[in-house]
Amino acid sequence: MKNQFAHDVLEGLNSTPKTLPSKYFYDKKGDELFRQIMELDEYYLTRCEYEIFQTCKDDLLKVFANSSHKFNLVEFGAGDGYKTKVLLSHFLSKGADFQYVPIDISGNVLKLLENSLKQEMPDLAVNGIRNDYFKALEQLENGGTRNVIFFLGSNIGNFKYEQAVSFLSELYENLRKGDLLLIGFDLKKDPEVILSAYDDNEGVTREFNMNLLDRINNELEGSFDRNTFKHCPSYNPLTGTTESFLVSTEEQTIEIMDSAVHFEAWEAIHTEISQKYSLTNIHDMARQVGFTVKNNFFDQQRYFVDSVWEK
Ligand code: AVJ
Repeated sequence: MKNQFAHDVLEGLNSTPKTLPSKYFYDKKGDELFRQIMELDEYYLTRCEYEIFQTCKDDLLKVFANSSHKFNLVEFGAGDGYKTKVLLSHFLSKGADFQYVPIDISGNVLKLLENSLKQEMPDLAVNGIRNDYFKALEQLENGGTRNVIFFLGSNIGNFKYEQAVSFLSELYENLRKGDLLLIGFDLKKDPEVILSAYDDNEGVTREFNMNLLDRINNELEGSFDRNTFKHCPSYNPLTGTTESFLVSTEEQTIEIMDSAVHFEAWEAIHTEISQKYSLTNIHDMARQVGFTVKNNFFDQQRYFVDSVWEK
């Protein structure tokens, strides 16, 4: 794993333009920073999806359990389950016949989630799987029970359009006819609102980005001085793409293990994309992959959508 990190970092920093994969944000410190981001005034995404679940929980159950059928609620990247718990406890109280299958690559995250569920909802059937998403789906023996896949929080936004299509196509191949996907998309909106979500006043998002440099220093003997880098997010309303960059304020050479990486003054490292969608974009993408869009659930402001797709 460590070698993979070293390999990806050196490959990214030796590319033109320089890049670092956003998946490396999430070490222990990064997980904590993302938790703080979700509580920021500027970061509307989590609150919007929470509101959707609160206001649409009855309709969601109707869609998932058509004519009181049994289903597996399978969540990709379950995290702390903060939003999903709204639905889990509602579905339980309605006597729905389902089990919850949280999937996460972090065994630690899964343990914490399973323990908290045991406390809060002792009657809930939980079957956590620690694996990557598609391997976990194969592992899930379910004798014909309908799968309802949750991919929340605009996590799909971290993929470029073509990557998103190929990820969703692979998912489609792993599902059976009648299975559902509930997928959260952040919608195009006032560019100022979007940009502030990635450039908050308290500087938490800045810390989140800079944590990548700290990680390289700590784990790969890096020599980054975070005072010589600026956190620079941007939003392009034409493409709907939010991007984050770390920009070197001076010419410098950084050492990483036995390598040296040269920066020109004001050279940027691309660290993340967070794609925003229109409803047309979403319908086009579903059709391209082969899914049918069954329902769209919005928050009041129409900032966010949870779209339900059927194979
Ligand atoms: C976890 C990928 C949905 O892109 O909005 C938050 C990550 N990055 N602030 C997002 C993130 C900067 C987040 N996702």
